[in-house]
Formats: sequence, structure tokens, C-alpha cells
Amino acid sequence: MNDIFIFEHNNMIMQINDKKSIFFDKLLTAIDDNEFVKQVISNKRNKKSDLNKVDILPVKIKNGFRLSFIFHYETKDITKNYKTEEALAKIDNLLKTEFQNAELFTVNEIVRLYCSKNSNSVKIKISEPVLKPVINLNHDRKKQKRILLKNNLWLQELDVTTSEGVIKKNMHDKYRQINKYLEIIENTVIKKISSDRLKIVDAGSGKGYLTFALYDYLKNSLKKDTEITGIEFRRELVDKCNKISEKAGFNDLNFIQGTIIDSEFSDTDILIALHACDTATDEAVYKGIKSGAQFIVAAPCCQKQIRKEMNVTNSMASILKHGILKERQAVILTDGLRALILEALGYKTKVFEFISTEHTPKNIMIVAEKNAEKTDTKRILNNISEIKKIFGIESHYLEKLLSADKNRVT
Ligand SMILES: C[S@@+](CC[C@H](N)C(=O)[O-])C[C@H]1O[C@@H](n2cnc3c(N)ncnc32)[C@H](O)[C@@H]1O
Repeated sequence: MNDIFIFEHNNMIMQINDKKSIFFDKLLTAIDDNEFVKQVISNKRNKKSDLNKVDILPVKIKNGFRLSFIFHYETKDITKNYKTEEALAKIDNLLKTEFQNAELFTVNEIVRLYCSKNSNSVKIKISEPVLKPVINLNHDRKKQKRILLKNNLWLQELDVTTSEGVIKKNMHDKYRQINKYLEIIENTVIKKISSDRLKIVDAGSGKGYLTFALYDYLKNSLKKDTEITGIEFRRELVDKCNKISEKAGFNDLNFIQGTIIDSEFSDTDILIALHACDTATDEAVYKGIKSGAQFIVAAPCCQKQIRKEMNVTNSMASILKHGILKERQAVILTDGLRALILEALGYKTKVFEFISTEHTPKNIMIVAEKNAEKTDTKRILNNISEIKKIFGIESHYLEKLLSADKNRVT
């Protein structure tokens, strides 16, 4: 066991074990001497944790110097600024509970700290940086937008920007949504697909904002060989999107008019269904499964089918007599059962908030990834049956589609 020693800085007192104290001492010295470049906390203790890594950067804000923590979660990044004393306590806590490693980059040194699993042993390694880094204290280090505004024809044609590349009134949320969507798709899907050739179907593509954004980003920024087909039953939207796609020279982005269920597609890598109303999401998920999609991404809305089916006669009835609570429960059941059905079919699923409710109330996203590991289908199907029984649900529409196809999940 290492010795415990009392660490003091300004009015802050921390008890830190000996090797860690060298690390914290170097961190504080670098901050005091304006030589702190960045710190990275990594190697998560629980591999299933959603928090993958934390970057710490120096920033100057209105109230003075702060350490800006960027928490990198599976689907999003969250930034929080802390005063030095708070930051040290936070780092110590992160190393005790979440991560095993920390790397400190100063102008003159790289200090690496490795904690053992049980935190009983701590190693430290110090080396010199190959290049002298530059410190950037600019708080407005803006998050790089994935879709740029200038000279972007499809953004202009879809009325998101003016011809000068200025976002139009009432379109700021749309632009934010586009960038957030790309961030999520990149982190949860694209980074996990090794193939450079991507075949994507966007079911219920509507006006095409997110379809154009994904194509533009994958093809032109990430340089992926991408083919996207938007399926939409409103003829005028299909015609408009095809015209814009042609004008923009997006040769592998096409829109076809038709219903999701009757559309023919196969060998899909990614099936996307964003705000395809009610059971249209089930049709899209079903078609995704049938076409062998490695990833299925759905942001469902208007979960009416399950709401109508719910017939609760047990003690939950006294809660669900309130319309709004029944509606929310229906949303949870519809999407929760969708995720479970996908799991029963061998997909690994994640359900999370897509974009905060201030931008859209339809903010749940399901990302399902085909899983190579063995699935305990029987247990999941029993689980689905129990849930349906509690809420008096006869059948979920996705199940109906699958069982009609002899691909029974019930
Ligand atoms: C709410 S919009 C969403 C558009 C786009 N995905 C987005 O998130 O910006 C849903 C679109 O799906 C289309 N849609 C709904 N059900 C459909 C179906 N069964 N087949 C084809 N298109 C459908 C509607 O016409 C509408 O344009």
C-alpha cells in the first residue's frame, strides 16, 4: 500500500497517495507556470460504462481561469468547467471510480499515471514531448461543425441558409439538429463499420435535411464510398430532393417514391428511420432486418399503436387513468419492446436521447447493431410476453410483421 500524504494548494487540502501526488504536483505546477496544455483520463474500469474518456483543457472565461472537462460519452460529449481545486478533486475521483490512466501534457513534459484495478499500486512515467505544444486558452474553441454553411447548395435549396451561407431565421434549430445527428451517427455507427463502401436506406426521408447531411458528410468529408436511397411517399418531396441532389452533383443520393413496406432493397449496411410516424417505424425496422442491415437507427414518433392496444386491468390502471401518463407509458413500451424484439433477433441495442427536448419532443433514438455473440432469445421472448401481459397488449406491430413473415419472435 502507498503512503498517504496531505496535499495542499491554496485553501484546498487533499489526501493523495504518494505517486499520485507527484502527478498532481506536476499538474498544479504546470497550471501555475502557464505550461498546462491538456490532460487525458482514459482506460475505463468498467468496460460497459458509457463514459469513454475525459479530456481536460485550460480555458479563460469571464470569471477567470478554469479547467474545461470534456466528458466523451458513447453518443455525446458534455463539457463542464471547474475551478482548479474542484478539478483536482474531480480528477482524483474519476481515477478512483471510472478510469485507471491519466496523461498530463505540459509544455515540457508528458506525465503518465497508471493505477492498478484495485488502486493499490500506482505507476508513473515521465517523458519529453517530441514537439513543443502550443497552449490555447480560447474559451470559444468552437465545436467543429460537420456541415459547413458557405457555398453549400443543398442547404440553400432546402432553405436552411441564404445564398451567402447565413442561417435563415427559424432554421438555427434545424442546423443544430443536423450537426448533432451527424455526431451521433459518426460515433455510434460509422466508427464501428470497417467497410469503406456504405449502402444506406433512409426510410421516410421527408424534406431530406438529414439525408442530404449524411450523404454530404460521409462522401465529402469522411471520403466514404456512400450510396444513400431515401424512401418517401410524398411525390412532391421526392421530386424536389432528386432535383437538388442532381444539381449538387450527389450522384449516389437518390430518392424514390413509395411506401416503406413495399420498397425493395437488399444488402443494406445501415437502415435509418427518423420520425417515421407510428407503425412506419416498425415497417422500416422490419425492412432493415430483412435486408440484413448491420445497423438500424430509428428515432420513432407518434407511438399510437401500442397506446390503443394497452388494456391495463392490474394496479397500474390507477396510474394510467391519467391520459398524459398513459401516453408516456405507451412511448416507453413501444420503443422498449422494439429494442427487445431487435435483441431477440440478435441485435445489440442502445436507446438514448437524440437531441434535447427544447429542440424537438420526439427525441428518443434506438441504435441497433447486429451482434455476433450468442443471444438468449428464449429469455428475451419470455420477457416480452411478461411485459405485454402486464399492460394488456395483444401484439406489437413489429412482431406482427415478423411473424407474418414466418420469422416468428412470439
Ligand atoms: C416527420 S417526417 C420526417 C422526415 C425526416 N426523416 C426527418 O426526420 O427530418 C416523416 C416522413 O415520412 C414519410 N412517411 C411516413 N410514413 C411513410 C411510409 N409508410 N412510407 C413512406 N414514407 C412515409 C412522411 O410522408 C414524411 O415525409
